[in-house]
Amino acid sequence: MRLQGKVALVTGAGLGMGRAMAETFAREGAAVVVVDVTAKDAEDTLALINARGDCMSAVADVSNSAQVAAVYAQVEARYGRLDVLVNNAGIGSAPGDGYDKFYERMGAMNEQLARGETPTVHLDHTIDMQDEGWQKVVDINMNGTFYNCREAIRLMIKCGAKGSIINISSTSALNGTGAVHYSASKAAVLGLTKSLARELGGRGIRVNAICPGATNTRMMAGISPDYAKQMVASIPLGRMGEPQEVANTALFLASEEGSYFTGQTLAANGGWQML
Ligand SMILES: NC(=O)c1ccc[n+]([C@@H]2O[C@H](COP(=O)([O-])OP(=O)(O)OC[C@H]3O[C@@H](n4cnc5c(N)ncnc54)[C@H](O)[C@@H]3O)[C@@H](O)[C@H]2O)c1
Repeated sequence: MRLQGKVALVTGAGLGMGRAMAETFAREGAAVVVVDVTAKDAEDTLALINARGDCMSAVADVSNSAQVAAVYAQVEARYGRLDVLVNNAGIGSAPGDGYDKFYERMGAMNEQLARGETPTVHLDHTIDMQDEGWQKVVDINMNGTFYNCREAIRLMIKCGAKGSIINISSTSALNGTGAVHYSASKAAVLGLTKSLARELGGRGIRVNAICPGATNTRMMAGISPDYAKQMVASIPLGRMGEPQEVANTALFLASEEGSYFTGQTLAANGGWQML
């Protein structure tokens, strides 16, 4: 029970890694606040983890600062404190970002590579990217992380918690795999993490990031089998990660076991990218 007596908020906890984190934290004794933009998924996660009756769910779009602030007001009213925040909500693509063409071209390029040819098809993603597609991904992945950090820090300072903030970035931030808006927004999350870690160290609030690799969730289910095969072939452990493996990493950072980690990036990626 490594999180006994703690209150932990996980964004994007309706599915995937966020759900695995919510389950893991609840199993370790935390009262978990499940936040998601999709009410049904948030409620389903809550139903899975709420045996003790101390967890709650809330619906919010993390890119809307007023909705985010409203969630923290509920958390303060119910628990009067917050010890752990995981900024996990994120998206890989959005309408208007030219992702369909990017994917098509990637498929064609991979076929050429598989045939041993020098690719004549290019990804050319950026030239198809509309402002709205760029903005949406940055709004959720980067701004959403900032809005939640700001509210969480206000509450942690108010209640005197020596809290732990964990920001979910991506291998894309480290090596540029994936689309430009995604990589850029996830790299921004690493900068935010380091800066906040310096800002908050004196208060005993730790801020760290996790860069998952290819992980078996809905986000990955959308990729072509060929691309998946190619990716797995370049991962030293020879397989995708499971949401539970990222949740275990988050548990380490959230608990006392990670007490001397701040401003760090843990790459839970099977060796795909070595720091
Ligand atoms: N799956 C991977 O291979 C992979 C790799 C690296 C990083 N990541 C990152 O891990 C995190 C979790 O990804 P996942 O694979 O579990 O994805 P997922 O799509 O399975 O789950 C994401 C959850 O976030 C929620 N969400 C999306 N937009 C939201 C918003 N605006 N406000 C609140 N909630 C929102 C979704 O409803 C969903 O429940 C994301 O930040 C993602 O970028 C994933």
